[in-house]
Amino acid sequence: MEAPPAAVEGSLRTPPEEGSAAFRALLARDEPVLALAPMQDVTDLPFWGVLARHGGPDVYWTEYFRVHSTSTLDAPIVRSLVENPTGRPAIAQLIGNDPVALAKAARQLQEYPVAAVDLNLGCPAPVVYRKCAGGGLLREPQRIDAILGALRQAVTRVPFTVKTRVGFSDDGDWDALLALFARHRIDLLTVHGRTVTDMYRSEVRCDWIARAVRAMPCPVLANGNVHSPPRAAQVLRDTGARGLMIGRGCIRNPWIFDQIRDYRRTGGWRQPTGHEVLDYITHLYEVTRPTAGFRERLQVEKMKKYMNFIGEGVAPEFLHRIRRATTREEFFVCCREFLDHDGPMPLLPPALPAHDSTSRASCPSQ
Ligand SMILES: Cc1cc2nc3c(=O)[nH]c(=O)nc-3n(C[C@H](O)[C@H](O)[C@H](O)COP(=O)(O)O)c2cc1C
Repeated sequence: MEAPPAAVEGSLRTPPEEGSAAFRALLARDEPVLALAPMQDVTDLPFWGVLARHGGPDVYWTEYFRVHSTSTLDAPIVRSLVENPTGRPAIAQLIGNDPVALAKAARQLQEYPVAAVDLNLGCPAPVVYRKCAGGGLLREPQRIDAILGALRQAVTRVPFTVKTRVGFSDDGDWDALLALFARHRIDLLTVHGRTVTDMYRSEVRCDWIARAVRAMPCPVLANGNVHSPPRAAQVLRDTGARGLMIGRGCIRNPWIFDQIRDYRRTGGWRQPTGHEVLDYITHLYEVTRPTAGFRERLQVEKMKKYMNFIGEGVAPEFLHRIRRATTREEFFVCCREFLDHDGPMPLLPPALPAHDSTSRASCPSQ
């Protein structure tokens, strides 16, 4: 075994086989799998705890481990795996473009409680894709081939999974990419139904995800803009996917996983009240406080990265005011003004801009 990061040495708890058995059991159930999307600077250990308290997904993804020739595993992300408080399996995501370094990181990760090792082929941030990592790799299928080959060989103790967009700027290579994934016998594919250049602006194309479901011998998770139980049902219906991966929708609405389960069982779901949303924000403020070097101003700024999504579900004026807050007092005065009530909170995002005829086969927002 290669040395674990010093910060977590001696704290290994569960062998990876246990997590991966739980993950395989999820895939074998009749129910759709509900997964937390990996989100850099968001899906850390405290946030996992917050989600678990609200029902939580069936399976958690880490933030990505950045991998290059001299990188070591990022200790705080390893700690999420080792101290995972959710009781549910967690999957470690890698981003990078060096097959040897990625394989080494994957071997190291399999000494920790990981349910699977996942490769990021979707990150649309220019700083990432210009270095030919994340979504940038979608322009270089030969490099993807080499990476998948190296990772397939290295990931032996747990499933090997891929999370991708459908292409860099169009879906022209999508079928060839799917054939590549199938040839490397990946164990699960998550598809964000957009291209890299779409960023987050366009409608999510369910027909592109459905194409993956038809072509792949492994299960496929559908990702993108799932923000309500009816929309979850619609995406599952339109794609035939084995499950859903949810990102921003669960920052805005951490009850969403249980709401989807309830909707499937009963046809209805309960919306949280303003007070419950206020409790959620207050709890998030407390659990995301750093253990050392707390500074109120920085904590208020840190909260804004969650509030950008939560605020969208409350009111435009709320988000505008929250963005100007600089102290805890200002921050919570504003929260109480909008949320000190027992009315229901749908927590939906604003509608996407009207889409053109090329996205007719998408899943329209509800
Ligand atoms: C703040 C933020 C950070 C993200 N970080 C990652 C990441 O580390 N790895 C990854 O594969 N995708 C990342 N994504 C993309 C999400 O996993 C997901 O694919 C995307 O947000 C679409 O799903 P959603 O509409 O449910 O949010 C990130 C998205 C956001 C908003």
